[in-house]
Amino acid sequence: MHALSSIPCLPEAASTPVGAEVYRGLTALPKRLSPWLFYDQRGSELFEAITALPEYYLTRTEHAIFAEYGDEILAAASGDRTLAIIELGAGTAAKTGLLLAAAARRQGRVSYYPIDISVSALEAGRSRIREEMPEVVVRPIVADYTTELDEIPHPGGRRLVLYIGSSIGNFEPSEAASLLRRLRGQLAPGDLLLLGADHIKDRNTLLPAYNDAAGVTAEFNRNMLTRIRRELGASFRPRLFRHCVCWNDRESRIEMHLESLIQQEVSIPALDLTVGFRRGESIHTENSYKFTPESVGGLLTRSGFVVERAWTDAKKWFGVYLAEAV
Ligand code: AVJ
Repeated sequence: MHALSSIPCLPEAASTPVGAEVYRGLTALPKRLSPWLFYDQRGSELFEAITALPEYYLTRTEHAIFAEYGDEILAAASGDRTLAIIELGAGTAAKTGLLLAAAARRQGRVSYYPIDISVSALEAGRSRIREEMPEVVVRPIVADYTTELDEIPHPGGRRLVLYIGSSIGNFEPSEAASLLRRLRGQLAPGDLLLLGADHIKDRNTLLPAYNDAAGVTAEFNRNMLTRIRRELGASFRPRLFRHCVCWNDRESRIEMHLESLIQQEVSIPALDLTVGFRRGESIHTENSYKFTPESVGGLLTRSGFVVERAWTDAKKWFGVYLAEAV
């Protein structure tokens, strides 16, 4: 009895998603933390602010593609069938409005199933859409699409799954393929995926998009430490870490890191952990993969989809790919 209870074990916080991720990432070498940790309330607000920055061309460019080709995209997707629209990681559905409006013009009534882990974002999206587009019936689903893809609804008829914003860029190529393959497993032949993917371009355009002059992205990156401070009682002082961005040409990805400005120790009481940092040592917080039309096509083919059509902007900075489940 006594011997059993004295076996050392991890504190309870290490079994919560945040605790487990922080424990794993900060005891690993090199140190890393997953980008999903960015999105607490403050982080989600900062991300919204990023999407409006002059340097962050992604949201604006994808939006322009939807504005110009929304009707064409919906025509290509539906043929003469009625579509139900499902969105992975919908958030407040700010970018989806143009596509929902195009769908409503084609078919009148539209069923829209936004999937997100944030209840508040889903609520905000639902009330806005209700007001602006009464033809769209919103049925929010609270789920983590990376682990709970079985939550994908099948209301009957053809489904169009939206996975936009280049969110796919956060995953390593093998993880991206496995996510899309699991999605494919939930779909029927003929169902469709609309995938938004940021393209490889000049690094003088890519780097500032992740290192803006106003410092919003730096704040977004450091907010991860503020979150860990608050949720796990960690002694992180975010100002002692520098926001670092680089372009990894071999992997075709932007990387974000937090680099320790000094040698320091950070204690995380909830995890019973002390983490040492050398001066200049960094935590890898995000990868944002960039694609070519060929690499997106390859990814989709490996995952059981075939690209039907693609749309891009005049500078070919961003691509929107319509793929059919085969
Ligand atoms: C939400 C993953 C598409 O990679 O561009 C923005 C996140 N990180 N600025 C991206 C992000 C820093 C964004 N995604």
